[in-house]
Amino acid sequence: MDQQKVIRAGIIGLGGVGERVFQALRAHPAFQVAVLCDASEQRVKQAAETHRLAWTTDYRTILDDPAIDLIYVGVPPKFHHGIVMDVLKARKHVLCEKPLANSEEEAKEMSEAAASAGVVHAMNFPTYYRAAYAEMAKRIAEGFLGELKRVELKAHFHTWPRPWQQNHWIGGREQGGFIREVFPHFIHLIRAILGPIRDVNAHVQYPADPALCETAMFASAKLDGGVPVLFDGLSQIAQKENITFTMYGSQGTLSLQDWNVVKAGGMNEPLTEVPLPEIDRTLGLLDELAAAIRGEKARLVDFAEGYEIQQTLESLLRG
Ligand SMILES: NC(=O)c1ccc[n+]([C@@H]2O[C@H](COP(=O)([O-])OP(=O)(O)OC[C@H]3O[C@@H](n4cnc5c(N)ncnc54)[C@H](O)[C@@H]3O)[C@@H](O)[C@H]2O)c1
Repeated sequence: MDQQKVIRAGIIGLGGVGERVFQALRAHPAFQVAVLCDASEQRVKQAAETHRLAWTTDYRTILDDPAIDLIYVGVPPKFHHGIVMDVLKARKHVLCEKPLANSEEEAKEMSEAAASAGVVHAMNFPTYYRAAYAEMAKRIAEGFLGELKRVELKAHFHTWPRPWQQNHWIGGREQGGFIREVFPHFIHLIRAILGPIRDVNAHVQYPADPALCETAMFASAKLDGGVPVLFDGLSQIAQKENITFTMYGSQGTLSLQDWNVVKAGGMNEPLTEVPLPEIDRTLGLLDELAAAIRGEKARLVDFAEGYEIQQTLESLLRG
């Protein structure tokens, strides 16, 4: 692709996260948002009128437009597969929300279709583009931890869904729950920094109402070489939301707290916060996406990786 040509994007899904990605695409000089799509006419019309853009409630009409280079898919998980398969058939580059799909089979199909479509396929894992990620990866590469002894994820929510994230699907068992919604970020992070996760052994607790998502889970797994990975998820408990990811080593401990704060400590030292530069994570992802579409080397999470993440996710959910 011509290095100077602006990348014309269509957006499918303008909910909580879609609106954020839409604003980031608008702000990024490599991209131009050409058309908006949402199943809610009121939502898409309002956004389109505000920004003087074309709009539709039927995503298929966007796929017919030869002027669109990239499609962003920000719809609820059970619609990823159908829409993304159509996008790939139309041979458009695609940025899809996590988790890749709503089952292992769907994710496999999407990954295979993406590999043969000859387009750029990427997922939105913003933590990968945070300064916190770069800091942890750098320290690990430098041997800060010594011998890694244990990896732990604690994800505790006073309520699920969170008060700021209310929609019709996120508290449901079919496609919602904190395991599907939050854990893929950390499955990716662990894989990217430490390698694949194997031997998952999970216990998931569900409420009596079969329509509602999990309220508790704990799981053990292993990295190659046998280092244990512990997952601890809990909701509807009296405390502030606490998402803490910690890697314990023989010489150092590294902890990522609430997505953005890295704390580090040596032997018998308290964990102290590491100062980090401010980086816009979504713009960071879009830099890489633009590079890939222009044929340059880029740091993206592709659908093959998305499928592997989905496999671990499904084994955590199966219990
Ligand atoms: N990457 C991240 O950090 C991050 C954060 C939150 C959510 N997510 C993921 O993003 C996706 C969307 O989450 P959300 O919180 O924005 O959900 P949401 O319910 O707030 O928004 C989804 C939007 O998609 C629209 N929609 C549904 N079906 C559609 C269709 N067939 N065609 C067009 N529009 C359709 C809905 O009308 C709604 O506006 C989910 O997969 C979720 O897991 C990712």
